[in-house]
Amino acid sequence: MESSGRLGKTYSYDSIESMANLIRGKINIKPVIGIICGTGLAGLGDRVEHKEVFSYEDIPDFPVSTVKGHKSKFVFGYIEGKPVMCMLGRFHFYEGYSLSELTVSIRVMSLLGVKTLFVTNASGGVNRDYKVGDMMIIKDHINMPGLAGNNPLTGPNEERFGTRFPAISNAYDHDLRRLAHEVATDLGYASFLREGVYCMVAGPSFESPAEIRFINCVGGDVVGMSTCPEVIVARHCGLRVFGLSLITNKCIMFGEETEDEANHEEVLQIGAKRNTDIQALFEKLISKMD
Ligand code: HPA
Repeated sequence: MESSGRLGKTYSYDSIESMANLIRGKINIKPVIGIICGTGLAGLGDRVEHKEVFSYEDIPDFPVSTVKGHKSKFVFGYIEGKPVMCMLGRFHFYEGYSLSELTVSIRVMSLLGVKTLFVTNASGGVNRDYKVGDMMIIKDHINMPGLAGNNPLTGPNEERFGTRFPAISNAYDHDLRRLAHEVATDLGYASFLREGVYCMVAGPSFESPAEIRFINCVGGDVVGMSTCPEVIVARHCGLRVFGLSLITNKCIMFGEETEDEANHEEVLQIGAKRNTDIQALFEKLISKMD
């Protein structure tokens, strides 16, 4: 690990390869699917069969999650017979990590053989039609920190991972989105299933009503504090991505102010309620995908 000016901590290819080798030396499973379990959605790790666990703290220089509702370990195993690795505990910009730290796990996954990344997150509903407890298939994103100069690929490009200027136009795989719609309909989720645009903000403060009006105006359906850096790094190294967002609270829009305030406990409670529905969706999706 190196420290590189305004980018903060960065990782060389060799240091990421050492992390992957360390894991490979201790874990027998060769994952092809990586799953990032967002805030309150760690239950997916319980559905993994023939588990093998690797704690983040056992990987030198690997970050450790500091947020309530996040653990700090990889769970390897099988879902529907397919080898997976789940990240229980992800990292957020607001924790003070550099963008390289936020995303190093994606590169480790790629070196371990992962080809498809599933990301989940909790978000606030900006679209006025969305309700608390709805699930949204992510069809595109607005990376606010990235637009403001905090793109995880800033700095020297490592060609062994990917190209200098990767396209992000088809970041959220079309076929997986279509399959997820089919699976969700079969499961009876149609009434609470959405598809829309995820807008990332840096946090940790929730957004002001004027900021929510802004996000709504520019086409964001939900807002959250994660996901975009991981997805950009995943696309850079050629992973196929599927993203699902759980709407845990309704954002307060300018002109619609109430006494209610967004809070983290609410986010965790709704996550716990929908946990099993999301697990069922992922299991069916994994069983049907090629
Ligand atoms: N804003 C930002 N991030 C979030 C929210 C929100 O309202 N809810 C869950 N994560």
